[in-house]
Amino acid sequence: MGNIKIIKSEKTVIEKVEWDNLRFGVFFSDHIYVSEYKDGNWDNGTIKPYGAMDLEPANCTLHYGQTIFEGLKAFPSVKGGVNIFRPEMNGKRMVNSAEAVCIPPYPVDSFVEAVKAIVTMDKQWIPKKRGESLYIRPFSFGTGNFLGVNASDKYNFIIILSPVASYYKEGLNPVKILVETDHVRAVRGGLGNAKTAANYAASMLAGLQAHKKGFSQVLWLDGVQRKYIDEVGAMNIMFVINDELVTPTLEKGNILPGVTRNTVIQLANEAGMKVTEREISIDEVMEAHKDGSLKEVFGTGTAAVISPVGLLQYKGKEMIINDMKIGKYAQKFYDTITGIQYGELEDKHGWNVHLDI
Ligand code: COI
Repeated sequence: MGNIKIIKSEKTVIEKVEWDNLRFGVFFSDHIYVSEYKDGNWDNGTIKPYGAMDLEPANCTLHYGQTIFEGLKAFPSVKGGVNIFRPEMNGKRMVNSAEAVCIPPYPVDSFVEAVKAIVTMDKQWIPKKRGESLYIRPFSFGTGNFLGVNASDKYNFIIILSPVASYYKEGLNPVKILVETDHVRAVRGGLGNAKTAANYAASMLAGLQAHKKGFSQVLWLDGVQRKYIDEVGAMNIMFVINDELVTPTLEKGNILPGVTRNTVIQLANEAGMKVTEREISIDEVMEAHKDGSLKEVFGTGTAAVISPVGLLQYKGKEMIINDMKIGKYAQKFYDTITGIQYGELEDKHGWNVHLDI
C-alpha cells in the first residue's frame, strides 16, 4: 500500500450489517482513507477507523458548501478477486469538479491507489450477491474555520465504503419520473457538470414534492428555456427513438459527465447502434411518444446502473413507456455492464481494475 499509513480499527461492526436488506448507503465499513491538504500539498494519506469527524462550528464548508464527491463500485469477480470499475475516470472527473469550486485537485494516480488500498483493507465488506457491490464514496471539502466567503486554505480528501444493493427500491423495474417545470437544477455557466453538493441541495425540494406524488425522482429541464432535457440528478438520461440512442449533450456544461453514460455510449457504438449526443427537447420526446417512435427511456448512473423509466409525467400528461416494462436495450446494457463488472464477460476495454484479494 505504498506510503499510506495504516491505523487498524480495534473492533469491527460488520456483524451489524443486514446482508439481506442492504439498501443503498446505509452501512459503512470499518475504515476510511484520509488525506489532508495544507501549505500547498496533499499528504501521503492514512487508513484509519471509521468514526465521527472533528469539525468546528465555523467550518467553512458547513456554511458555503465547498465540497465535491464521487461514486464508484467494487464487485466480487466470478473468477476470484475483486473488480473496481473505471476508477481512473472517476478520479479525472473529481479533478474537474475540484476546479469548479476551487478545491485543490487530488491527483488521479493517488486517487486510484487510495481506492485500491481502502477496498483491500475492508475487502470482507464486499457483498457476495449478484446485483450488490461495495460502493466507494470519495469526497473532498474545505476544513478552514472562518466566515468570509473565500476558498479554504485547508482540505480533506476522504473515502468511505458502503455495501449496497440497488439504488431504487424498484431495482431494474421501471421507475416513474416527473418532468420538473418549476425548479431548475443548474444553468449554463453554473456548477451543473461538477459533482458538488450544491446541485444535490438544489434538487431536494423538487425531489420531495415528486416523492409525495409517487414519483421516484424528477427529470430536469434546462434552466433558461425550460425546454431541453438535462438529467435526472442521480443519473443521466437516454432515449431510444426508433433504433437510435439519443442523450443530452455534455457541451452545454450543465449535466454530469457520467461514467455509466460514457460506458453505454461506447457499448452502443460498438454494437452498431446510431448514437447521438445532442439537445433534445421535452416536446420532441412527447411527439416521439405520440407517434410511437419512442421505444425506451432509461437512466444511467453508478448507483442506479441502468434504470428503465416506465412513466414520464409532463404538465399533467402521462407518457407510459414500453408498457412499463424493461426494454430490450436497457436489459442488454444492464447485462453487458454488470457482466463485465462481475467478471462474467470479457473486459475488452480494460475497464476493470482487478485486485487479487
Ligand atoms: C452515483 O451514481 O454514484 C451518484 O453519485 C448518484 C447519487 C447517489 C447521488
